[in-house]
Amino acid sequence: MIVEGIVTTTNADGTVNVAPMGPLVDRPMSRLELRPFQTSSTFANLVRDGIGVFHVVDDVLLLSRAAIGRLEPAPRLLSVPGVDAPVLADVCRWYAFRAVRWDTSTPRARCEAEVYRSGCQREFFGFNRARHAVLEAAILATRVGILPDEQLLRELEHLRAPVSKTGGPEEFEAFELLSEHIKSSIEGRTRLE
Ligand SMILES: Cc1cc2nc3c(=O)[nH]c(=O)nc-3n(C[C@H](O)[C@H](O)[C@H](O)COP(=O)(O)O)c2cc1C
Repeated sequence: MIVEGIVTTTNADGTVNVAPMGPLVDRPMSRLELRPFQTSSTFANLVRDGIGVFHVVDDVLLLSRAAIGRLEPAPRLLSVPGVDAPVLADVCRWYAFRAVRWDTSTPRARCEAEVYRSGCQREFFGFNRARHAVLEAAILATRVGILPDEQLLRELEHLRAPVSKTGGPEEFEAFELLSEHIKSSIEGRTRLE
């Protein structure tokens, strides 16, 4: 099955790259199949270094900020002996992996990876409809220019009800950030056309 989370890698200049990604995982999470687009920084970093960290998170504000490239303040990192890729501190669980096999024959590459270290920082908070709706909105935010504008805006509006009914301040903030991003990206594209 696919688990949506966050992958960290190291950029060529040594900075940390934080990107939402949904790898296929096995139940024990000992192997991951990442599917990064070849245009992504995650792809470039994994091809160069062969290592990264997958994080299971329930913080949708962090995931949303990562999705639209607005990670301020920068997330805290853990120092883990034996793990050279960046490990985020405010997550539920983390899985340090190394790439073992690549298939780059399609625009969305496939990278089989084996987990060599993992850790648990805190328990998963629990199911919450607002959080799942924000997760869906974050995916929409990364599909501007790929999906038709009307579809993006329609799906975004469907997600608003579960957020307002079941969310808290962080979910509201995340949803507003994503809505603003989607709407301004669409307006920017329309002006250029
Ligand atoms: C929940 C979620 C899951 C995602 N899964 C993937 C994925 O599996 N592969 C991918 O290329 N992009 C995925 N994306 C989109 C990337 O996060 C997005 O393209 C991002 O800009 C890539 O960042 P990077 O260039 O720093 O690697 C996902 C986005 C979200 C919100």
